[in-house]
Amino acid sequence: MIETTATAAASAITTRQLRLSYGANEALHGIDLKISAGAVSGVIGPSGCGKTTLLRCFNRINERYDNVTTSGEVVIHGRNIYDADVDLIELRKAVGIVFQRPNPLPISIRDNVLYGYRLHTPRAQRGRASEEEALQKALEEVQLWDLLKDRLKEKGTRLQLEQQQKLCIARLLPLKPSIILMDEPCSALDPGATEKIENLMRDLAGTYTIVVVTHNMAQARRVTDECIFMLLGDLIEHRRTEDLFIRPRDQRTADYLEGRFG
Ligand SMILES: Nc1ncnc2c1ncn2[C@@H]1O[C@H](COP(=O)(O)OP(=O)(O)OP(=O)(O)O)[C@@H](O)[C@H]1O
Ligand SMILES: [Mg+2]
Repeated sequence: MIETTATAAASAITTRQLRLSYGANEALHGIDLKISAGAVSGVIGPSGCGKTTLLRCFNRINERYDNVTTSGEVVIHGRNIYDADVDLIELRKAVGIVFQRPNPLPISIRDNVLYGYRLHTPRAQRGRASEEEALQKALEEVQLWDLLKDRLKEKGTRLQLEQQQKLCIARLLPLKPSIILMDEPCSALDPGATEKIENLMRDLAGTYTIVVVTHNMAQARRVTDECIFMLLGDLIEHRRTEDLFIRPRDQRTADYLEGRFG
């Protein structure tokens, strides 16, 4: 049995028969799913099962590869983001993404946080005061303001990895996203740093809908409200995290969680 809906909460992302192929190889075989608004949703499954591909469908950055074809629907804020007239810049402001390795730009902390904001906000709407406000708010939200407020001219690339990852989250925030996608955001971090990013995810939940891909089952249990288990391009089971881990309905989920494969 394939479970597609974890709870009845309002959905932030709804997919219908979402298929994606790289050239002739289909990597997602018709995914139907609803991701709850304000929750932290985890995507788990063995390497190559399509976790990253699914995540990258939610802001259409898979299309940066030129051999990609997508069909089906991904509905965000009431509209199918695959409609021909969707503005990709607006979409990517609303649905931000952070990657495995933190990738701040080799410019100051201040300029990192304000980079997207300056690019996407008309000059008339962003005086010095509004920039300062956006900067402080974003760094406060990722718990870096007190630490860095006197070091804003330092290069973002000189920070510790965990702080760099927080900076990469911070730079999304002035664009007022509603959804933040994270693809194994802690895989380059040590356990202490991982715990700090996990705490941050919990703090950001509610204000933002978070979808996080992780290979770390303990992390999935600690930080996610709901979990999606994928296998070979199919969604096998999607339920409240506690239920998925304690009472998986599908034998394949149980086998994966018990380490029988992957
Ligand atoms: N750019 C690409 N071009 C061609 N095939 C790709 C590309 N990216 C991914 N694939 C293929 O699509 C399938 C799903 O890959 P994907 O990276 O989404 O898996 P994943 O679950 O994120 O794996 P991992 O846990 O290793 O990160 C795999 O078979 C992979 O080889
Ligand atoms: Mg991946």
